[in-house]
Amino acid sequence: MLDKPEAAAPTLLLIVNGEERHVSAHPFRPLSDTLREGLGLMGTKVGCEAGDCGACTVLMDGVQVCACLIATGQAAGARIETVEGPGPGGLTDRLRHAFLAHGAAQCGICTPGMLMAATDLLSRNNAPTLVDVEDGLGGVLCRCTGYTKIIEAVLAVAQASFSGEAQRRPENPVNANGVVGSKPDHDATGPVGQRMARLDGLAKVDGTDLFGADVAPADALWMRVVRSPHARATFVLGDLEAVRAAIPGLVAILTHADVPGENSFGIFPHLKDQPVLPPGHVRYRGEAVLALVGTRHAVEALADAALPIRWQPEPAVIGVDAALAEGAPVLHGFAPDNVLARGHLRSGDVAAGHAAGAATATGTFTTAFVEHAYIEPEAGFAECVGDRIEVTACTQAPYMDLEEVARVLGVAQDQVRIIPSACGGGFGGKLDVSVQPLLAVAAWLLKRPVRIIYSRTESMASSTKRHPSRIHAKASADAHGRLTAYELEGDFNTGAYASWGPTVANRVPVHGTGPYKVPHVWNRTRAIYTNEPPAGAFRGFG
Ligand code: FES
Repeated sequence: MLDKPEAAAPTLLLIVNGEERHVSAHPFRPLSDTLREGLGLMGTKVGCEAGDCGACTVLMDGVQVCACLIATGQAAGARIETVEGPGPGGLTDRLRHAFLAHGAAQCGICTPGMLMAATDLLSRNNAPTLVDVEDGLGGVLCRCTGYTKIIEAVLAVAQASFSGEAQRRPENPVNANGVVGSKPDHDATGPVGQRMARLDGLAKVDGTDLFGADVAPADALWMRVVRSPHARATFVLGDLEAVRAAIPGLVAILTHADVPGENSFGIFPHLKDQPVLPPGHVRYRGEAVLALVGTRHAVEALADAALPIRWQPEPAVIGVDAALAEGAPVLHGFAPDNVLARGHLRSGDVAAGHAAGAATATGTFTTAFVEHAYIEPEAGFAECVGDRIEVTACTQAPYMDLEEVARVLGVAQDQVRIIPSACGGGFGGKLDVSVQPLLAVAAWLLKRPVRIIYSRTESMASSTKRHPSRIHAKASADAHGRLTAYELEGDFNTGAYASWGPTVANRVPVHGTGPYKVPHVWNRTRAIYTNEPPAGAFRGFG
């Protein structure tokens, strides 16, 4: 039933950061995985496993490569350098301090890859142009900084090296005033306008900051989520126990029946509309259906198609027009018109305001789903500690996670502890729970630590997006350009579950006029359920 049996791994010799390291690894295993899971070098991050994000960039014989695209066997005998390797005083170390001084490491998940790419560049070209730097770092994506600070940091190191200043780099990059850098950026005498030392900055540039995938007990089981291939379908489960018993290393297959407390979560107390695992009906493609728990090989090698799930696809509601159409399938019984929430703001007499205007403009604006694409996919682990469950995961909202985990397990909140790892980008997308309830259920039931790392594909399939919108707007102004009236009608596609949909529906009417004082306003919005990915918080709400 497994796609492939677990092959005995040979022992390979790698030269990592100047040391000979013997590691048991299949030659086809990605070097990034061998560095992290085989050698414990968690400074090399993994964002996509496809060579797109560059978070796993290391040096191989001095040249930057995506470690996820290098087979471990290919790296045998080569010199591999990771962010953990270079000691004080060298080029990478000078880049580390420049990244700190320029605020170039924000969430920090891209930073190790950026540092290695910059090391490669400056070791070949000690007087790069802006274009050279852009080109040299072009294989590493950053979702936080906008790149400017990173480029400034690399150019600063190049210029200092070129002029011989590198020898004057201080041991401690933070001066007595708590200001980063050996000297202030300019002549200011007080803290206003100067960069302050970032408390967690050093860990972000030396590879020791621990993100969701970077830490787990050695005996942790692995979890993999089986997701719906259909946007709307019912399903019936066959004999899962027979599958579990037949697969060596497979410890459990969790279904909705295994959730000990409330099988639902959501941002709002009255809107817990998303199941941890659904009881027979899915509402979007990518929704969690089952959770496999066992050895890493067992959960990764068991193909979804080998599981006894009998699907009955149904016509999906795609787009708000389909959701609002007469006779449209209903997503949730409590919202028979598929409208999750309405928002409005009314002030004055908008018709009179338009009539008083010298000019009127109208427009219709549409936006699409937007993916956060934080570089760190969702990850973490859970374990029982005494009568308590502890969940370590990347999150933006540990106290909200605590409430959700307590509900899902049916335990008191003081039996739950959430330990936030470093968060490799969130932008609102990690305000919703992701891995936390599933990890908690598995560890609670099995009394064993359980870890999970979402793949990039899985992260994109299951995480919340920006709400697609369609907004009709009309504004009038007098002859002096002062707004006399403004109105909008906005429909927001909130996807299959509520998430932050009510917040978007209620904030947009308020934010619709921007910073302007307008005497006559009539703004109204709707958040509408569809069989599409849940939409949630995304940088500026709505
Ligand atoms: Fe680059 Fe966050 S600092 S992705």
